Amino acid sequence: MFVKQVSTGLFEGFFVGKGSVSDEQAGDPSGLIRKALGTRSIVLVGMMGAGKSSVGKRLAQRLGLPFADADGEIESAAGMTIPEIFAQRGEAEFRQGEQRVIARLLDEGPMVLATGGGAFINAETRARIGKAGVSIWLKADLDVLMRRVRKRSNRPLLQNPDPEGTLRRLMDERYPIYAEAAITIQSRDVTHEEIVNETMVELAGRLGIGKKIDPGAPLPVTQTVKVELGERAYEIIIGPNLIEEAGERIAKLAPGAACAIVTDEMVAGIHLAALEDSLKIAGIRTAHVIVPAGESSKSYPMFERVCEAIIAAKMERGDLVVALGGGVVGDLAGFAAAVVRRGMRFVQIPTSLLAQVDSSVGGKTGINSVYGKNLVGAFHQPGLVLADTDVLDTLLLREFRAGYAEVVKYGLISDAAFFAWLEANHRGVFSGGVERIEAIRTSCAAKAAVVARDEREEGDRALLNLGHTFAHAFERIVGYDGSRLVHGEAVSIGLVCAFRFSVRLGLCRGQDAERVAQHLHSVGLPTHMSQIPGWNATAEMILEAMAQDKKVKRGKLTFILARAIGESFIAPDVAVDDVRAFLDEDFARKTG
Ligand SMILES: NC(=O)c1ccc[n+]([C@@H]2O[C@H](COP(=O)([O-])OP(=O)(O)OC[C@H]3O[C@@H](n4cnc5c(N)ncnc54)[C@H](O)[C@@H]3O)[C@@H](O)[C@H]2O)c1
Repeated sequence: MFVKQVSTGLFEGFFVGKGSVSDEQAGDPSGLIRKALGTRSIVLVGMMGAGKSSVGKRLAQRLGLPFADADGEIESAAGMTIPEIFAQRGEAEFRQGEQRVIARLLDEGPMVLATGGGAFINAETRARIGKAGVSIWLKADLDVLMRRVRKRSNRPLLQNPDPEGTLRRLMDERYPIYAEAAITIQSRDVTHEEIVNETMVELAGRLGIGKKIDPGAPLPVTQTVKVELGERAYEIIIGPNLIEEAGERIAKLAPGAACAIVTDEMVAGIHLAALEDSLKIAGIRTAHVIVPAGESSKSYPMFERVCEAIIAAKMERGDLVVALGGGVVGDLAGFAAAVVRRGMRFVQIPTSLLAQVDSSVGGKTGINSVYGKNLVGAFHQPGLVLADTDVLDTLLLREFRAGYAEVVKYGLISDAAFFAWLEANHRGVFSGGVERIEAIRTSCAAKAAVVARDEREEGDRALLNLGHTFAHAFERIVGYDGSRLVHGEAVSIGLVCAFRFSVRLGLCRGQDAERVAQHLHSVGLPTHMSQIPGWNATAEMILEAMAQDKKVKRGKLTFILARAIGESFIAPDVAVDDVRAFLDEDFARKTG
């Protein structure tokens, strides 16, 4: 996988996630399961339509094992489809071929192997699986199977006037034999991912490693946060493997709709193919437009390019714009979705931490003007947000840290317990697994609650700007040069400034401000202006940059200040002299 290649040697330590920690440390039991399996394969058995191939592929991906489909192997060995083999050679010959192919595949293990419905019924094959594999029966009820197999015409055993009766008879014969499988999982109408999660738990138990996995720590499971906006309410789904699931989920959201994917060059090279595959598997027509990576793409020329590409791809109003990327792509694609054909539906698949916890939620979209950032745009809520926490493994560590500053911000605004939890669990957030999902869920829930109360920032949505009046001024002074300062780094310094300023105004205890600085410093974020490369700004320059910020109302500066960690508030009338005095004092401090 991509991370494993790039996170060795020269790039060691530059990426977050699984490249720098073992799977076990990451809270993911995949490594332990692989170790316990040795050369044994996981063999999925059960009736046609039970989901063996779909679940098998996802399980293989989760475990980092190859996947094989015995029926597919038989077809390529024979150079014929299974119905053709049945018709031309008969069932007995098919079963012999099946037995040989499964024996060969088991010798090539470990892998995840999906077998045809009759394979496990053969005593020899069953014995071989018992020796060289761990069998899992995906057990499904008759109505579920009938619903699924009715959609397909290539089941030779069901080509007769009474397929339901045949299926019932096959179930009666086969279920007592399938029951000999080492593990039974009930196949039902939930997402494949839920079935995979359950299978992982059962596998861990069966392989005797359940205890090592720390029973207190749940497996990474998908979390859902709802943004309650009446008719425009939508869900933010957070968890692993969501790009793989995107097709299934989008098809459910908008049956029959095509997707115009907007992404950037960096993300396209790593994640676009997986998304397109997933959409294709779900039968969704796709087109894509790729823009250069970075803030410069939030421009009029790129906006025009994206709009024209969506129209050229013959996307209609009911079709979807899908933003696959960081905040830049989300803002640009969302704005295009807001205006093309007077408004298209849109799905966010945020791939940076900042985008997952902040920009993909809340419906602010837009591009930059020569007069400043985000000055041209629209409120346009997505219909769905899929925050795939695995894709963050390919993000540069610097970008991950930058997004982490926004995560910390939610604790500082109104959730002191979350801030304390981050102090204790930040390592898990960086390395992946359950802590990462939990941090993103909490952040999204905090943002969703604010957005539901004040969608258009007429009231307390402004709280989300904690640290941002300072941050925007720093970014403006360095000319938005990301090589010197990325947004989240500016926010980190801004958060510390907001707290120290609150201390200076007598609102907050000094030890709270130092605790904030200490935590941000401990994850490698800058906490003081002097850490910005080439920094030589004066207090006047900062004040001037602040005065150009759009949050200035009638000459007064609006700040978000704090009475304590988790107790921030909007201060609309802050005197410029107080800010100047604070900045002078902070310059003297010299370091974070
Ligand atoms: N709409 C809002 O409410 C809102 C809120 C906050 C920020 N924003 C906007 O978000 C933008 C910043 O977002 P950002 O920090 O995500 O920047 P970004 O979109 O430029 O992404 C940062 C870099 O990371 C790369 N990247 C993204 N995902 C990756 C992945 N999984 N693997 C490897 N590389 C990956 C990108 O290609 C880019 O080079 C700014 O334009 C800001 O104004 C908007």
